[in-house]
Amino acid sequence: MWKCAVLVYLVASFVGGDRSDVLIDIEGSSWLQNEHLGEMIDHSFEGSRCCNVFVKGDNRALFRQFIELYGHDYTLGAINRKCYAYFLLAKDPAHLIAGIAKIPTIIALTQILVIVDAEITENSRLFNVSFYKNANVNIISRSGMWSLSEMFLRPRIFKNVVRPSDMRHSRGIVNLEGRQLQVATFYVPPLSYLSTSDNKTVEQVEGEFFSSNNPLEWDGVEVKLFMMMAKRLNFTWMIRKPNGGYRYGRARNSTWEGGMIGQLFRKEVDLAFGGIWFMHDPYRYVNLSVPWYQVSIHFLVPRPQPITNFWALTRPITVHVWIAVVTTVIVQSLHVWVKAWINPKVPSRFRSFANTLTELIGRLVGLWAPQKTDGLRVQLHLWHFAGLLIVTAYCSSLAARLTTPDYENRIDTPDQFLKTNLTWGREGPIPKFDDYFEEKYREKMMRKFKSEKSLDDRKEKIDRGNYAIVGRIINCIFFPENDVSASDLRDYRVMKEPFGKYYLSFATQPWLVLSLNKMMTRLIEHGFTAFHLKDVIHRRTSTSLREVLIERDGDNSDGPVPLKLKPLGAGFIVLFLGLTTATIVFYFEIRRKDNDKWPSRHHRRRPEHNSKNWNTRRRPRNPCSRLNPAAAPKTEIWRNGPNVSSDFFLLRNRNSNQIIFLDVRIHE
Ligand SMILES: *[C@@H]1O[C@H](CO)[C@@H](O)[C@H](O)[C@H]1NC(C)=O
Ligand SMILES: *[C@@H]1O[C@H](CO)[C@@H](O)[C@H](O)[C@H]1NC(C)=O
Ligand SMILES: *[C@@H]1O[C@H](CO)[C@@H](O)[C@H](O)[C@H]1NC(C)=O
Ligand SMILES: *[C@@H]1O[C@H](CO)[C@@H](O)[C@H](O)[C@H]1NC(C)=O
Ligand SMILES: *[C@@H]1O[C@H](CO)[C@@H](O)[C@H](O)[C@H]1NC(C)=O
Ligand SMILES: *[C@@H]1O[C@H](CO)[C@@H](O)[C@H](O)[C@H]1NC(C)=O
Repeated sequence: MWKCAVLVYLVASFVGGDRSDVLIDIEGSSWLQNEHLGEMIDHSFEGSRCCNVFVKGDNRALFRQFIELYGHDYTLGAINRKCYAYFLLAKDPAHLIAGIAKIPTIIALTQILVIVDAEITENSRLFNVSFYKNANVNIISRSGMWSLSEMFLRPRIFKNVVRPSDMRHSRGIVNLEGRQLQVATFYVPPLSYLSTSDNKTVEQVEGEFFSSNNPLEWDGVEVKLFMMMAKRLNFTWMIRKPNGGYRYGRARNSTWEGGMIGQLFRKEVDLAFGGIWFMHDPYRYVNLSVPWYQVSIHFLVPRPQPITNFWALTRPITVHVWIAVVTTVIVQSLHVWVKAWINPKVPSRFRSFANTLTELIGRLVGLWAPQKTDGLRVQLHLWHFAGLLIVTAYCSSLAARLTTPDYENRIDTPDQFLKTNLTWGREGPIPKFDDYFEEKYREKMMRKFKSEKSLDDRKEKIDRGNYAIVGRIINCIFFPENDVSASDLRDYRVMKEPFGKYYLSFATQPWLVLSLNKMMTRLIEHGFTAFHLKDVIHRRTSTSLREVLIERDGDNSDGPVPLKLKPLGAGFIVLFLGLTTATIVFYFEIRRKDNDKWPSRHHRRRPEHNSKNWNTRRRPRNPCSRLNPAAAPKTEIWRNGPNVSSDFFLLRNRNSNQIIFLDVRIHE
């Protein structure tokens, strides 16, 4: 009883607080009251549902007490990485330090509760803050309780606490109490417009710090979000450019080289933003916040140019219609031709298939309509009507097509892009193709890449043609990766399908990531990200960037175009062929006539050749019709019409082919 009183006094003098906080049990059972230990566990392991336990020495009573109060699963003798809560229990601080060394304290989610079953003093090695990195830590000993101040405040210190409730650590939206954060970003519209910088050395690291007084530079969607975070989390900042020749840097073996991610990795900065993609690669080296927006990788491709097609005249109707028309003409001609042989009423000219075909084509296009169509009247009337429909349809479609400009095909999908001869490029280091493109396009897009040195270099490539401009679509507006002058964008349009889609997030040190995540979720939920996105883009987007979204090939805003020679080419070719054929025929006719000037004995003479000498009256169309050939075995007689005052006869001797002309005047 006496011994007990002394111990109670000793403990009370250490703790300096309420005597009932600690209960000493000499029998070896727990010296911590259930009620208090339960509260301490709740505050230390807030929100955890499992924990890793490290016990050294004979502390059965305390261990059993902890397990009963904690009430969730625990892992003993190994580390379950999915559990961020760690409970350590031992008598000797050296054992505890060995246990702490195994804990991944770099992770900000880590929560540690240490119970030292002994008395410790303020200068114990357990109070070396560098062991605990980003973890939240509470220490309970027989001589008192300590809580490590939050990791986002510098410097971290162990505070002696009296009430278990003081062991609670704040997380999420916290007060950084004006702490100055080092931040990295660069000029990447529309996310950040910071550009003017000064060289300074801060914490032994040289950097180019943004220092402009121009409010137009302190603009950008991510800059605005960052400002809101700074205000809410109560921190101040210095913003610098990335270094090392990269914007984001590259993973090399086990380190990250250059760029903003490199700066974060080397702990030169606490936070970085400016189009950082939420991807596995940087995630292995630094902590990324929850993403706030999705962007897609797009290209500006040359606008389709107007083209003139030689075969324009065939284009108003499709191949199938052409085939149907030709088939119908042939079938109809066959039909009429066969009918002409069977039906004596049908005019005899239809007995020639070539004649029939020519006439039916003529009738179809409405150029031919001789009267004599006995036996075919209904058929040919319907034929005329069908012709009218086809010709009208063809003509109106032709007019519409020929007077609107015709364009090359658009480039809208990655596959179409790869089929073209387009190259692309950008300034600075060669991009990481794995990040930009899906695997099936990676190899080919790599071959199309050509590095650029400057704006002039790019301009030259644009002027030369066959060049695509890489960029991102943010809120339906295309932002090129490098500067392009407005005049160069005139002949470009946005390709419809993206090459890839990525989420944007902020990169940060582990101790800030929980607060940043909380802030980001709040900003998204409350619509601030959407608001700033719209607002910045509305204020800062130039008309040239909006115009690349307009398609110029479909609309007919310039009115009908005058017809040029090429689209009518097929028609002219037909004319030319007709003329050539006629000329050739004419040539042969002339040659024949020349031969006739020197008639040989066996040369056939045609009656027409003497027509000059004949009576100028028209001869009957079918001179034989009124004569019976059988009645004149040797001589054929033609006679002109009856009831005329003058009459003539032609007599031809069939053997000698001699023609005798008889002019008979009848005087009534
Ligand atoms: C704290 O621990 C680190 C090693 O983790 C050691 O370098 C440092 O000297 C220790 N500080 C004190 C005050 O013991
Ligand atoms: C922000 O931190 C400063 C410095 O510690 C402090 O004076 C101020 O009250 C804090 N602001 C808020 C809103 O907590
Ligand atoms: C700052 O330093 C960089 C190299 O680190 C240099 O390229 C740049 O010109 C310097 N800027 C100024 C304003 O001195
Ligand atoms: C990275 O690792 C490879 C082997 O995996 C080695 O050849 C190379 O030298 C290393 N590079 C650096 C910069 O350490
Ligand atoms: C921070 O990054 C580390 C490793 O880079 C990772 O293990 C940890 O889970 C990350 N923390 C958060 C809160 O994402
Ligand atoms: C593609 O461009 C290259 C030069 O850039 C040229 O040599 C080649 O003939 C072009 N190919 C086609 C199909 O236009």
